[in-house]
Amino acid sequence: MANTVLVGLQWGDEGKGKIIDVLTRDADIVVRFQGGNNAGHTVEIGENKFVLHLIPSGILRPEAQCVIANGLVVSLTGLDKELDGLEAKGIDISDRLFISDRCQLLFEYHCLADGLKEGQLGDQKIGTTKRGIGPAYADKANRCGIRARDLKRPETLRRKFFAEGEKYNRLFQEMGTAQLDLEAEWAKLSRIAARLAPMVADTTLLLNRAAAAGKSILFEGAQGTWLDIDFGTYPFVTSSNTTVGGACTGTGVPPNLIQEVVGVHKAYTTRVGSGPFPTELHDATGEYIRTKGGEFGATTGRPRRCGWFDAVASRYAVMLNGVTGIALTKMDVLDEFETLKICTAYELDGEIIEDMPSDSEDLARVKPVYEEIPGWCQDTTRVTCFADLPERAKSYIARLMELIGARLQIVSVGPRRAQTFEAPR
Ligand code: GDP
Ligand code: IMO
Ligand code: MG
Repeated sequence: MANTVLVGLQWGDEGKGKIIDVLTRDADIVVRFQGGNNAGHTVEIGENKFVLHLIPSGILRPEAQCVIANGLVVSLTGLDKELDGLEAKGIDISDRLFISDRCQLLFEYHCLADGLKEGQLGDQKIGTTKRGIGPAYADKANRCGIRARDLKRPETLRRKFFAEGEKYNRLFQEMGTAQLDLEAEWAKLSRIAARLAPMVADTTLLLNRAAAAGKSILFEGAQGTWLDIDFGTYPFVTSSNTTVGGACTGTGVPPNLIQEVVGVHKAYTTRVGSGPFPTELHDATGEYIRTKGGEFGATTGRPRRCGWFDAVASRYAVMLNGVTGIALTKMDVLDEFETLKICTAYELDGEIIEDMPSDSEDLARVKPVYEEIPGWCQDTTRVTCFADLPERAKSYIARLMELIGARLQIVSVGPRRAQTFEAPR
């Protein structure tokens, strides 16, 4: 398998976990390159459902090695809990999970600061996952973050944790909110540090050496293109580069070692949290998609906002990521519609535009221009090859690919491994 980056092309939750699990069959190493435990990647295998937050979804294939690379902000308590959950389900991670010595550690004070900031913003809030992601990346940029290397040096970790924790506590005091009991936190952290320390390594060396030895690497993106800190619907974004460039800066693997970019895309659109969403449906159709698609957050349980396929946004996302193939998920959710709508352009202040505006305030004002296309009104959940899809489903997909200028690579018609097939080349 070629070295492949997998990114979400929308606002997250496109089904990346499921597609990673399928592609890992042919990969040697799976690596997360950005974000943190704001991500929730679901993989269903038989009757078992796993939700991964920090650990690559490839961990469910026993032969795969997995890497948490330098671009992440890693919650120690989050990772500890996730390891417990996997072990309880009989997943053996020993000797095959590696943590970059350069990645940033995320502590409880980051989560408290995240919640406070959101509270201050009131109805302008971002709608974050409150996992401390923004504050942890802010500390990285401010050059006061603590890196995973220190997990191997408990005394240094303790000193830095208390120094940073006291800074945050002064802030909490000024704001009149409860301070963090640093000694109690440290009691938990020192145990977790000892558990994780053997996994800490220079994963940049590990990945480049593996690539040189002919091993294949699968890069697992988190969130989605429109949540990217640079290209997303700023300020309603996450705090990392969720687009393809993040795979290089977040791992230390250069771009010439990457051959393919798989863009994961739902057959419709969802978003969780605040911010503009042109094709959002506030009616019974939106409610129907939410119920049929089980559109509730895998991390926070929040209901996801639902809407039609937005070809304007997705065309831009395909360009931005250099997508070489699309994995189209959740086709089955549209099985019962007599008519489907696709947004092909926007109207902005009386003018028709065909490109995604860079400004969120402009995007919040656009009105979608729709094209209607007949639905297939057939169950697709048992379809196992592209040829067996209803003709109208094939037409819908063909129109989407034409509008966004991309090649279809994979189709998904249900949450299970087996409900996935490749498109003809
Ligand atoms: P991720 O964050 O991109 O990994 O996606 P999530 O796991 O947050 O959300 C995707 C949800 O859709 C999960 O509950 C998956 O089990 C489910 N899912 C994935 N692919 C399909 C599909 O083709 N059809 C249906 N019905 N569900 C799917
Ligand atoms: P996966 O990897 C969907 C959203 C939050 C909020 C914004 C900022 O499962 O697709 P943050 O906590 O990152 O500071 O929140 O980003 N968000 C996600 N939405 N899927 C995700 O991850 C998300 N991770 C963050 O809802 O709007
Ligand atoms: Mg998710």
